[in-house]
Amino acid sequence: MKILSVVGTRPNFMKIAPLVKEFRRNSIGHVLVHTGQHYDKGMYKLFFDDLKIPKPDFDLGVGSGTRDEQIKSIKAKLEPIIKKERPDVVVVVGDVNSTLGAAQAANKLGIKVAHVEAGLRSFDNTMPEEFNRIETDKISDFLFTTEKSGNVNLKKEGISKDKVFFVGNVMIDTLLSHKEKAEQSKILEKLNLGKRDYCTLTLHRPSNVDNKDDFANIIYILEKIQEKIKIAFPVHPRARKNMQSFNLNDKIKRMKNLIMTEPLGYLDFLCLMANSKLVITDSGGIQEETTVLGVPCITLRKNTERPVTVEQGTNLLVSTDKEKVVSKAMEVIGDKIELKSRIPELWDGKAAERIVKIILNN
Ligand code: UD1
Repeated sequence: MKILSVVGTRPNFMKIAPLVKEFRRNSIGHVLVHTGQHYDKGMYKLFFDDLKIPKPDFDLGVGSGTRDEQIKSIKAKLEPIIKKERPDVVVVVGDVNSTLGAAQAANKLGIKVAHVEAGLRSFDNTMPEEFNRIETDKISDFLFTTEKSGNVNLKKEGISKDKVFFVGNVMIDTLLSHKEKAEQSKILEKLNLGKRDYCTLTLHRPSNVDNKDDFANIIYILEKIQEKIKIAFPVHPRARKNMQSFNLNDKIKRMKNLIMTEPLGYLDFLCLMANSKLVITDSGGIQEETTVLGVPCITLRKNTERPVTVEQGTNLLVSTDKEKVVSKAMEVIGDKIELKSRIPELWDGKAAERIVKIILNN
């Protein structure tokens, strides 16, 4: 058995880490390819170091670009590698452009595709990730789901149930195996924060940061919240770039309780999140991580492809209506609502183990 797995962006790295460990434990031949979609030290190298992911065997160096450019370039550069390596299965994770580009390259060459985190749907076609999810699932041979809603969605799309496996969440495998180590991080001291006396913010979705009015709307929200509590904000390169081009820097700098940092490594960020009073985010994975950590999360989106985090977890899907977000944040900060969370089914640290077992037995 030989597996070739492909990663490209920051959230892919924590999903591949437990799988790489499991491939090794089962003596499976493994080739790791990094597409290079994320290439900055803070978006890539820090994660490989923290999660002890081996250096990729191949780096395609595709870099930034439009979706079509990235996907086309990944396919062109990956195909010769797949032909040379001749894996039995190509594993892709998540829903980014690298996921779809790699799945298409493998499918074209008749190699089986395993999609980890299949079936999630936001039903929002303006999200680039929704297109990537649907197209990847269509051509996958193994569809590994993290929550039951994924199985329901795939059934509705006519995907044979023989290909769909509910296995749990590899991102949570990584969280559970690094939680203790993350508590030793010095990030709170470094940013001068105390446990539960701050919020953590992440922001990168095009619908929030690619348009000046949308970004200004978020700035209004932050202005209000930071009057009450500190906000730690590791800034994603997309947000950083747009902050500058929309001339929002001055407004941002005036907020004395908004503490901006470069993107953090995995352990520092996990520590920051775990000790927050509240997390405010537009990320997908963070909705899941806060659910397991039991930390309240306000999601700055109108929809989520991860409904279990709302139904069972700590996720509050509040949209980007500024008054609604501010008022919900004040409720959480003022301990006006208590969020009881249950750990979703099979989010137990053993998803990678299940996935590898299934691949080996099929
Ligand atoms: C991508 C994923 C998104 C995921 C996110 C996590 C797609 C469609 N989007 O979005 O689903 O949630 O990663 O971070 O695949 N940049 C740098 N350095 C880097 C990478 C990017 O400066 O290492 C800048 C570039 O200006 C680039 C921009 O960020 O144009 C956007 O990067 P890109 O990878 O296209 O999308 P993300 O917004 O990171």
